[in-house]
Amino acid sequence: MTTITVKDEWKQRAKLDAETYQTWYDRSVSDPDGFWGEHGKRIDWIKPYSTVKNTSYAPGNIDIRWFEDGTLNVCANCIDRHLESRGDQVAILWEGDDPKESKAITFKELHEEVSRMANVLKERGVKKGDRVTLYMPMIPEAAYAMLASARIGAVHSVVFGGFSPDALAGRLEGASSSVLITADEGLRGGKTVPLKKNADKACEIAKKAGQEVTTVLVVKRTGGDVPWSEGRDVWWHEARESVSADCPPEEMKAEDPLFILYTSGSTGKPKGVVHTSGGYLVYASMTHEYVFDYHDGDIYWCTADVGWVTGHSYIVYGPLANGATTLMFEGVPNYPDAGRMWEVVDKHKVNIFYTAPTAIRALMGAGKEKVTRASRETLKILGTVGEPINPEAWNWYYKVVGDERCPIVDTWWQTETGGILITPLPGATDLKPGSATRPFFGVKPQLVDNEGNVQEGATEGNLCITDSWPGQMRTVYQDHERFEQTYFSTYKNKYFTGDGAKRDEDGYWWITGRVDDVINVSGHRMGTAEVESALVAHDKVSEAAVVGYPHDMKGQGIYCYVTLMEGEEGSDELRKELVSHVRNEIGPIASPDKIQFAPSLPKTRSGKIMRRILRKIAEDDFGSLGDTSTLADPGVVDDLIDNRQNKK
Ligand code: WTA
Repeated sequence: MTTITVKDEWKQRAKLDAETYQTWYDRSVSDPDGFWGEHGKRIDWIKPYSTVKNTSYAPGNIDIRWFEDGTLNVCANCIDRHLESRGDQVAILWEGDDPKESKAITFKELHEEVSRMANVLKERGVKKGDRVTLYMPMIPEAAYAMLASARIGAVHSVVFGGFSPDALAGRLEGASSSVLITADEGLRGGKTVPLKKNADKACEIAKKAGQEVTTVLVVKRTGGDVPWSEGRDVWWHEARESVSADCPPEEMKAEDPLFILYTSGSTGKPKGVVHTSGGYLVYASMTHEYVFDYHDGDIYWCTADVGWVTGHSYIVYGPLANGATTLMFEGVPNYPDAGRMWEVVDKHKVNIFYTAPTAIRALMGAGKEKVTRASRETLKILGTVGEPINPEAWNWYYKVVGDERCPIVDTWWQTETGGILITPLPGATDLKPGSATRPFFGVKPQLVDNEGNVQEGATEGNLCITDSWPGQMRTVYQDHERFEQTYFSTYKNKYFTGDGAKRDEDGYWWITGRVDDVINVSGHRMGTAEVESALVAHDKVSEAAVVGYPHDMKGQGIYCYVTLMEGEEGSDELRKELVSHVRNEIGPIASPDKIQFAPSLPKTRSGKIMRRILRKIAEDDFGSLGDTSTLADPGVVDDLIDNRQNKK
């Protein structure tokens, strides 16, 4: 296994070296109060905190509080505090879907737009603690809406613009949200996305379920024709004219919620992950500074969508809290062609570039010339997130994109963790392609076997974190019991990540992927249970079981076993119908890759589906099915093998 040792140039430039990393890390875990008490001061507090860490992972009492008696406003930290020193510096650099379109918003302008949007929300009756739902394309107004909510103490819930009306409705209901911010249409890869139409449908569905949306604030993006509901719908460009550009930020407690973000788990409906204000911002801004070795004046680009946690922490909150210029990209990596990313890097002189392995694999397939026709000379740091990166993709990223000049930070974290937990630091950490390397400050990873026994040394196991860090989620929205059940009940007194990992002889961490029923499709988290419930909602389907299988481009593909109702026949046409049905229920990111019609599913005598077997068959690896003797009807397996859809 190759190791790339820290180069001298990286060391000279970097804020932290290997020794400092170790000293800081040791202190962060031996004296968290002292360490975070000091680093908590990196953000501005209205009333300073006097306590730092107050957290419990004890069964029946999962209670996580940081900087509890301090008060602050997150939006003021991201904007107001920079006005004096860098009011005219660009805060958001926006690159449109069309390469001819871009826009720069300074901190001063950001301050005005956000204050106006905050006042529009107030005028529509939004108060501290109310939930505001966003269903937005990647335009600056998406960031305005998040920051405007934070400014007045409202809690935002961003729903990815690729989700279906049904999925949006479920999240509106889940958060009891009566205010929705959207756009007429989105624009991606030259195609429009009917956001307002979807939003209208979602409002209708939510209303039937008892959640009425009383305000839909609409940003005009394309100018396309949209349905309009008088009284409920408000154009942003009109409303902003009639409100003041001054909106004092609300004083919030450190533990007041900042946002809810719905994410998939192994069971049931997506959970509303709740993040609070003080600890989250300290952690997001500190990781942004040290993981990306951010220096004043750097142009920083994270290609995620604001609909995911990466967009929250590393497009909006982390960078802006640090006074950085954050690039926001509306389009897709292969439009107009697969050289777009590198053209944007040159156009905006990007220094730090953060993307997902799935994008790297796709661009890799398009050939080297698309990369080398751009100079990329401004790049200093490259990052990845979202799924394990295979060494081939890592090496291509390092050699072809970075010309072996830029360290790659492979950052492991989750919606639940708020910020990066395991990662190299440029200038401090030697790199191994495919390894997320070392824990960030305050993070104590541990491996356990299925019985919960702690595994020492170079080994493999289930990845847990044994103590809290400031960016950790605090609860599942209105369901603290589910929070404990999901993350703290499998192994007592520790947070279980749902991931498997290896630790090598140098103490480096290698994430191997999910060990629960969550699959990772192109870096998007998907609960197999969600896809199953979408399938069984179709009137020809009686039962469904969904598993992931290795997919060259997407990381994992979605493999569905479907049992039809009595008298129904499987056909290619029905396959297509089911694919489009799932897209309608959840969204295009949940499109099944393979559908196998199965007269019955392998079940234990107690009726539990044996997914282990289904996974093996989906991988075309049925030579090693293991023990099938507990199956109620072992004959089922032969039929499944005969009709498998992934024959190698
Ligand atoms: C996976 C995204 C390997 C992991 C920030 C985790 C990764 C899930 C990495 C969280 C990485 C994320 N290496 N796997 N660098 N980063 N993952 O909530 O399985 O959308 O549990 O958060 O993505 O996905 P989520």
